[in-house]
Amino acid sequence: MLKDLLAHNRNWAAEREAEDPDYFKRLSQLQKPEYLWIGCSDSRVPANVITGLEPGEVFVHRNVANLIHRGDLNLLSVLEFAVESLGVQHIIVCGHHGCGGVRAAMDGDRHGIIDHWLQPIRDVAEHNIHSLEHLADQTERLDSLCELSIAAQVESLARTPIIQSAWRRGNRLKIHGWVYSLNDGLLHDLGCGRSSIHREKHRRFGTHQLKSHSHQHHSAH
Ligand code: CO
Repeated sequence: MLKDLLAHNRNWAAEREAEDPDYFKRLSQLQKPEYLWIGCSDSRVPANVITGLEPGEVFVHRNVANLIHRGDLNLLSVLEFAVESLGVQHIIVCGHHGCGGVRAAMDGDRHGIIDHWLQPIRDVAEHNIHSLEHLADQTERLDSLCELSIAAQVESLARTPIIQSAWRRGNRLKIHGWVYSLNDGLLHDLGCGRSSIHREKHRRFGTHQLKSHSHQHHSAH
């Protein structure tokens, strides 16, 4: 019941204040989280609860199947603010086994707009078709695809101009790919992380070459 939520909230606020009279005053003046969490919207994977982090300790973005769409203004705004203003040092992309988004991406049915949203998962499945085909069990196959997708999202995030620029400025922030198991409540690091050593080199496409190319282009007309 909604009334219960509000009652619970009043109790929670009173308890915090009893433990520490400056608790809300301090939090209202400053947030300085060390972590940005990019996770699935699934109600069973709440960032703060499963990592034991308190209010003020983790900045959170969640969407269906924890995907990095490069044109997603919501994600990019969160990312830019987290990196450039909050100065987070770790970005955790966390997916989970038994993800309904991964399942929906692969069941062959039409669900509506969500099918467009889930396209990156089908792309990952296509790129890894040979390793996925070897898995006989459907649950195992979907969980493996879920992990491959997490690694692909980490890579995609690492290539965004926001992250590339941060690394170029000497920021040492790291991106991590984690998976959560609904069966035992445990998080695992997939070892697919990225750091500033993965900075892209753009020298081959310097402005000089681009200019001379556009010059040729114009003179051809
Ligand atoms: Co999910």
